[in-house]
Amino acid sequence: MANQQQVKILFVCLGNICRSPTAHGVFQQLIADGEVAQFVLVDSAGTAAYHVGKPPDRRSAKAAAARGYDLNHLRARQVNASDFQCFDYLLAMDTENLFDLQQHCPAEHRHKLRLFLEFGNLGQESVPDPYYGGRDGFDHVLDLVENAAQGLLQHVISVHRIPKPDK
Ligand code: 4NP
Repeated sequence: MANQQQVKILFVCLGNICRSPTAHGVFQQLIADGEVAQFVLVDSAGTAAYHVGKPPDRRSAKAAAARGYDLNHLRARQVNASDFQCFDYLLAMDTENLFDLQQHCPAEHRHKLRLFLEFGNLGQESVPDPYYGGRDGFDHVLDLVENAAQGLLQHVISVHRIPKPDK
């Protein structure tokens, strides 16, 4: 499928070293098994530039690896102006990230900004920032992300009429 017809999804958090790379890796793996991957482009970025160029936080990578997700190839980058044009969905991890995106997004693209957990069903609106906490926080991020990723996949398949995976 030609690139311009792909559904493009950008996961966004503050630093792009904990939550959004986790969502990036989990969703990429979720779609990798079927044929969905060729119809979807996945990326992640941070609203802040603190960690640009760095790999995911070791605690995030370790918690993700324990569930079979490899985040080590990812590198942090900051959201830039062209992202609002390029991506179909910019999915914020928390309400602050969403607010930051809204401040920078041209009006014509603002409908693309949403909270990622809108696609989940665990009754939370934000993925809590695990950076200053303990191991539990990183596992909780994965619980929320894995749940919302399933909902996002179903949404993308139905709204964008992508052929369903075989299994
Ligand atoms: P993230 O977590 O937004 O999920 O990547 C954070 C990473 C770094 C910082 C805060 C949150 N920081 O303050 O450096």
